[in-house]
Amino acid sequence: MKYLVFSDIHSNLEAFDKFLSHKKIKNIDSYLFLGDLVGYGPNPNDVIDRFRGLKKTYSIRGNHDKVIADLESASLFNPVASFSAEWSKVKLNSDNQDFLKNLKKGPSVVDHCITLCHGSTFDEDYYVFSIFEAAESFKFMETSIGFFGHTHFPIMYLLRNDKIDTVPLTTNTRIKLDPNTRYLINPGSIGQPRDKNPDPSFIIFDSQKKEINFIRFSYDYKTTQERIREFGLPEILASRLESGV
Ligand SMILES: [Fe+2]
Repeated sequence: MKYLVFSDIHSNLEAFDKFLSHKKIKNIDSYLFLGDLVGYGPNPNDVIDRFRGLKKTYSIRGNHDKVIADLESASLFNPVASFSAEWSKVKLNSDNQDFLKNLKKGPSVVDHCITLCHGSTFDEDYYVFSIFEAAESFKFMETSIGFFGHTHFPIMYLLRNDKIDTVPLTTNTRIKLDPNTRYLINPGSIGQPRDKNPDPSFIIFDSQKKEINFIRFSYDYKTTQERIREFGLPEILASRLESGV
């Protein structure tokens, strides 16, 4: 099986459209989405409409999806996230609001062998930024491979013989997986990369070949910036797309 793993689209239509037209995603068997369809970006309805058109998709909700679906208050959000969440709520049509509400809470196990979570395996809002946090997440994972989002930072954590190592995922790369190692992998973000690279990223996981293919691509972020400014969303949401932070 070939799985396409992606996360954190954040209402960025230009990045999502470029992703959907990427030549590497032909012949994919299943889409695995790790949460945060909306929030921050200027096109929540268009992004959800496109997403709903995808076939064979396994998805879980992100913290922004949860707040914008009115399932939780924005009290834990910073002022920029909170402003964009309130703006997105007003913009969303009722069909898409219902779709967001019905997104599953992670973690979720796909095909008995892959764990999907937004933040961590024990708390959808918990950020995995370090080996310590990855160790906590491994403890609650039942499969040997898991994917997470939320940090918008592509990285691979490997657990072998009680020791955790990291593999940075920066440029396009192919990695063979070892059967005696457990993995927690973040594909980075489609709509708001934060590893100082504005290019979105995703992963293709080939479960037969036991191989990960990490892929980055460029897109027209200037149009997204224009829309953010045109709609009066906070300026930082536009400028950060250019610097990838
Ligand atoms: Fe996010």
